[in-house]
Amino acid sequence: MTTKAMAFLGWIDARFPLTKLWKEHLSEYYAPKNFNFWYFFGSLALLVLVMQILTGIFLTMNYKPDAELAFGSVEYIMRDVDWGWFIRYMHSTGASAFFVVVYLHMYRGLIYGSYQKPRELIWIIGVFIYLALMAEAFMGYLLPWGQMSYWGAQVIVNLFSTIPYIGNELSVWIRGDFVISDATLNRFFAFHVIAVPLVLIMLVAAHIIALHEVGSNNPDGVEIKKHKGPDGIPLDGIPFHPYYTVKDVVGVVVFFMIFFAVLFFSPEMHGFFLEAANFEPANPLKTPQHIAPLWYFTPFYAMLRAVPPMFNSQFPGVIVMGAAIVVLFFLPWLDRSPVKSIRYKGMISKVAIAILVVSFAVLAYLGMEPPSPVKTNIARIATVLYFAYFLLMPWYSKIDKTKPVPERVTH
Ligand code: HEM
Repeated sequence: MTTKAMAFLGWIDARFPLTKLWKEHLSEYYAPKNFNFWYFFGSLALLVLVMQILTGIFLTMNYKPDAELAFGSVEYIMRDVDWGWFIRYMHSTGASAFFVVVYLHMYRGLIYGSYQKPRELIWIIGVFIYLALMAEAFMGYLLPWGQMSYWGAQVIVNLFSTIPYIGNELSVWIRGDFVISDATLNRFFAFHVIAVPLVLIMLVAAHIIALHEVGSNNPDGVEIKKHKGPDGIPLDGIPFHPYYTVKDVVGVVVFFMIFFAVLFFSPEMHGFFLEAANFEPANPLKTPQHIAPLWYFTPFYAMLRAVPPMFNSQFPGVIVMGAAIVVLFFLPWLDRSPVKSIRYKGMISKVAIAILVVSFAVLAYLGMEPPSPVKTNIARIATVLYFAYFLLMPWYSKIDKTKPVPERVTH
């Protein structure tokens, strides 16, 4: 750095802890040296968050949150606004990419036991992020005011009306009307564009602050802080910058290659990322034949449909669907294994996680399909298996034979 630049930095540092923050969180944040492929997804989630916010700002410049104008304004963005199609597809493909990245990020947490002590809060904040992300995606999907926007929102908000005693009034309160209407569109726009993104940003900041307080876990699940050199630096740690910033660039490049291949060649992804029915304007008088949410919600939708109604009410299904997410909060206390990483856990834990993945994927598929008696029964089995992974964990994680964990990280 030139002396002038140094002097300027000194001037800033005397007034704002810029160098201190840089050191604490980047150049002197020591991360385990054995991070693998699975550790790309945290930084990729950050990248997609920034991408969604930036493309969202440009979409908002031409979008109209009005039931009369919304659908047309999206078509206008797609056809007439310079590069509008690109911004819109970045945002719609970005929504699915966000869930792909976050699901892989959560899976990494599961296999390496990253939720275990002392990282419980990182995980819990993560589950709140996941909830906020679901709310963000759900409300965003209403905005183009297509048939699926309208009827998807109708179905989901109606779920609140199944809650005993307060349900009906609650759902009217959420919609601001007796059906999904202009009032609903306006409030969903407010939540989607400002309220939920603000919450997301604050949660992500808390997530990273908590992570940097305790330090990162790693594929071996050993605590690198246990073995420090005379300088107080963990022997198995390397500075996040430049080592992992450079490594993460590789992840970003590969991610963009896949992301743009989808965006340019198949932005709707055969209905997985944008459903065909959503290219028709919302029509409150015409219910589509088959209403299904986008792929990232379908596992929960399949659970909802798998639970039989009680006294003609879908409330039990709603409870099961909610419980499927709430159970994630308790994970740090359900796992009684003395080891963190799947590498040193025994066969039972490996089979258990394989069953979880398969049952989640089966539910995702079934949630997209029109229901049939056979499919409903399969969904029931998959739902039971999903819950079994969590609820039986205190038992099987304790009896599972573990392998000895090395003192230091392996390569
Ligand atoms: C917007 C969404 C999210 C962003 C931007 C984000 C960001 C990050 C980043 C940058 C890291 C450090 C790098 C890495 O370990 O990959 C991290 C770690 C972690 N995240 Fe997230 N995250 C998000 C969502 C979630 C969710 C939904 C969960 C779980 C429910 C979660 C659980 C964790 C855990 C347990 C760690 C520590 C991992 C370890 O040290 O092995 N995160 N996150």
